[in-house]
Amino acid sequence: MARKAKLIVDRDFKIGEIDKRVYGSFIEHLGRAVYTGIYQPGHPAADENGFRKDVIDLVRDLGVSNVRYPGGNFVSNFRWEDSVGPKENRRPMLDLAWRTYEPNTFGINEFSKWSKKAGTDIMMAVNLGTRGTEEALNLLEYCNMDTESYWADLRRQHGDADPYGIKLWCMGNEMDGPWQMGHKEAKEYGRLAAETSKAMKTMDHSIETVVCGSASRTMPTFGKWEYQVLNEAYEYVDYVSLHQYWGNQADNTADFFAVTDDLEDFLHSVISICDSVKAEKNSKKTLNLSFDEWNVWYHSLKKDDEAMENQPWRRHPHLLEDIYTYEDAIVDALALIKFLQHADRVKIACLAQLVNVIAPIMTEEDGKAWRQTIYWPFWLVSHYGRGTVLVPVLSGDDHPTSHHDHVSDVEAVAVENEEKDQTVIFAVNRNTEEPVEFTADLRGFADLKVLDFEALESDDMKVVNSAESEPVKPVKRTDAKMDGGMLTAVLKPSSFVTIVLGK
Ligand code: AHR
Repeated sequence: MARKAKLIVDRDFKIGEIDKRVYGSFIEHLGRAVYTGIYQPGHPAADENGFRKDVIDLVRDLGVSNVRYPGGNFVSNFRWEDSVGPKENRRPMLDLAWRTYEPNTFGINEFSKWSKKAGTDIMMAVNLGTRGTEEALNLLEYCNMDTESYWADLRRQHGDADPYGIKLWCMGNEMDGPWQMGHKEAKEYGRLAAETSKAMKTMDHSIETVVCGSASRTMPTFGKWEYQVLNEAYEYVDYVSLHQYWGNQADNTADFFAVTDDLEDFLHSVISICDSVKAEKNSKKTLNLSFDEWNVWYHSLKKDDEAMENQPWRRHPHLLEDIYTYEDAIVDALALIKFLQHADRVKIACLAQLVNVIAPIMTEEDGKAWRQTIYWPFWLVSHYGRGTVLVPVLSGDDHPTSHHDHVSDVEAVAVENEEKDQTVIFAVNRNTEEPVEFTADLRGFADLKVLDFEALESDDMKVVNSAESEPVKPVKRTDAKMDGGMLTAVLKPSSFVTIVLGK
């Protein structure tokens, strides 16, 4: 008997509007993300600023809304003042996070300019590891104020008359992690984040801030950390961060595709903690989530640890250059579907990272920029996933995996794009062996036709893209049918589809 899955959506039952910031990404001063990634003076594709135009074109094409910067772990011993002004006066530094030489020839001034060219907003992280509230305030004044005060003046002297207008600020990075420079206890960090956020918002009423949650769901302090930090900072911040990376170390694809069942649990847990602190504090404010680091990351880990240990203080070394497989792209598609299913609470998400470092875009130092497999799920969802998410009622066959008893074959979500008068369905068949007959009952939508049907499909879970060839990319299909409000399509094993419906 054929395997089946059914999605029911009703246009009156909505989860929430998609915040465009869920299509965020991340550039850290790490490996070749900045140097030879987005910035490479002298490269044939570089513009007058040294920005690689081939990379900017891909970032624009990918539909990235905002980019978190400058870290990551890097930010926790970063002195931002060393990265601004005339380049000949900038002080090089030793980055302790990645044991790398940082020349500071690309810094806050350049990133602000690059972001405009790339059409992305900035999500700026402040150093709450080795530094504190005062340095964060100075940076905010430098970036956002139009006053006749020291740091705002300095920005003008550096050639930037207009403030950068950065609206989103991270209060440090992964401060629960013992590897973090200036790592803190929960209460200690919660107080510092609260006071820093309070002071920054006093300076600039227009900003929003993100407080650090746990570095991952598997941290031993997960849960307690969120609870204690929020107890201190709840009223002063707007979002709590979540970070998670996945890997298929066990080489078990079926189990790898189940990671979003763990992600569901992670999201529920953090939302519950936020709401319990809200109730305890009798607060009117609801705290939302910033999933500001997520991706597959495991291919390069061992090599990177060895390189950092044995060859420290190099300039832009090859670090975290995971080459992604087809199955990694399916996991990223699943994560994006999960974020949309929680559009009411997940307002920000950053694919970590953007260029060369665990990234959808790679560059050759002496050559071109190219798209990894994971470029495509992000591209499809950021292009078609705009509007309002409808409540997905999903039923159908499931299967066990080594760590999960009941993994639904299909994960899916539907989005109504009111502006374009279109409804879009994203679905993954997680069954690695068999196709699934998928139906979607679209209640309340009259006369829809299939306008587009794009699929990521492969029999080879380990196939990768490269600068020379792109075996993994969406293919057009024409065999989805719409009949009286019922959509039917066969989903191949281990595949991701985007189906666009309209008049
Ligand atoms: O994205 C790579 C690293 O992963 C980041 O620097 C850190 O925040 C996380 O642990």
